[in-house]
Amino acid sequence: MPDICPMKLQNDLVLRAARGETVERTPVWLMRQAGRILAEYRAVREKAGSFIKLATTPELAAEVTVQPVDLLGVDAAIIFSDILVVPEAMGLPYEMIEQRGPVFPRTIRTMADLDSLHIADPEEHLGYVLEALRITKQLLAGRVPLLGFAGAPFTIFCYMTEGRGSKTFSVAKKLLYTDPTFAHALLQRITDSTIAYLKAQVGAGADLVQLFDSWAGILSPEQYNTFSLPYIRQICDALKADPTVGHTPITVFAKGAFFARQAIGQLNCDVVGLDWNMDAAESRLLVPNKTLQGNLDPCVLYAEPAQIRAEVAQMLAAFGPQRHIANLGHGVYPDTNPDHVRVFIDAVKNA
Ligand code: CP3
Repeated sequence: MPDICPMKLQNDLVLRAARGETVERTPVWLMRQAGRILAEYRAVREKAGSFIKLATTPELAAEVTVQPVDLLGVDAAIIFSDILVVPEAMGLPYEMIEQRGPVFPRTIRTMADLDSLHIADPEEHLGYVLEALRITKQLLAGRVPLLGFAGAPFTIFCYMTEGRGSKTFSVAKKLLYTDPTFAHALLQRITDSTIAYLKAQVGAGADLVQLFDSWAGILSPEQYNTFSLPYIRQICDALKADPTVGHTPITVFAKGAFFARQAIGQLNCDVVGLDWNMDAAESRLLVPNKTLQGNLDPCVLYAEPAQIRAEVAQMLAAFGPQRHIANLGHGVYPDTNPDHVRVFIDAVKNA
């Protein structure tokens, strides 16, 4: 097993910013930075044969995780994986359909369905991600921090019940109204699996972990408080209470949940991720004591370089210079020109 002794990081800007320490400049990385924007990623994916093969082959996953550090100059690497590995580890395998996205051939919609699932054992069911983290840690050799992640329980619930992506996730939401007992039981099982998984990620070398609540924005504030926030709270509290993991910063990114910023800001987390609909100044008022991450519209990267630089300057002025990690407000779109991504990153670094 590779040596994962703590190594002093040469660039720990993301971690210092996350902890609220003073930084010389704003750190920057991009959600979905390891992916189809890079020809070098597409070449490795081609070699692997499929997304799932790539994600489950630790050497290849580690290779594409490091690519954006070498090719784009970002201040953090995020492990190449997917949020849907957790349902798979619970006993619900997924498929990744080209041009369409993830599909679960079987769904979980009743207590009887739930009985077929177990709580994920990270070493047994997600060992390939842990091994990818260990290999990545070695390849990075302390250049930048390595970020781990998981889906927030509500977002994972959406995919497990609906079975596929959706604009409304009305099948998933319907269950919140028609069978809340079942919904809570499934959410709890996802939560227990996620706590074990994130602890294991930290054990394998993750320096910070991010929770993606990508579908938070489809809930009403009341539903968010009932079906999403309590489970995110459990995860944050469990990680912070564990002496071997508690020092690791946690980022909570709840896309579309503008109404929940204040409540998320009161969780046992360190960073609150913002999408591009959330105003920087207003977010600072709502979340006064935590670091904010975000939040340029990914479509800004379709603009000419001069406009990208102007938008970055505006973002940095609105957030900065402290307690801010620059990022997009959601994952970078696959048809983005990597040169424009570099313009974005350099504009933050040279500000
Ligand atoms: O950020 C990174 O660079 C790390 C890699 C990463 C992936 N998925 C790789 C991926 C991360 C952090 C994710 C998280 C993820 N996966 C989320 C939460 C973030 C978000 O975007 O809201 C969600 C909702 C998923 C589920 C998922 N995976 C969908 C809906 C899709 C299809 C859409 C798409 O982009 O194609 C995926 C596939 C996926 N996950 C790809 C990548 C690079 C594309 C597949 C490919 O390369 O063939």
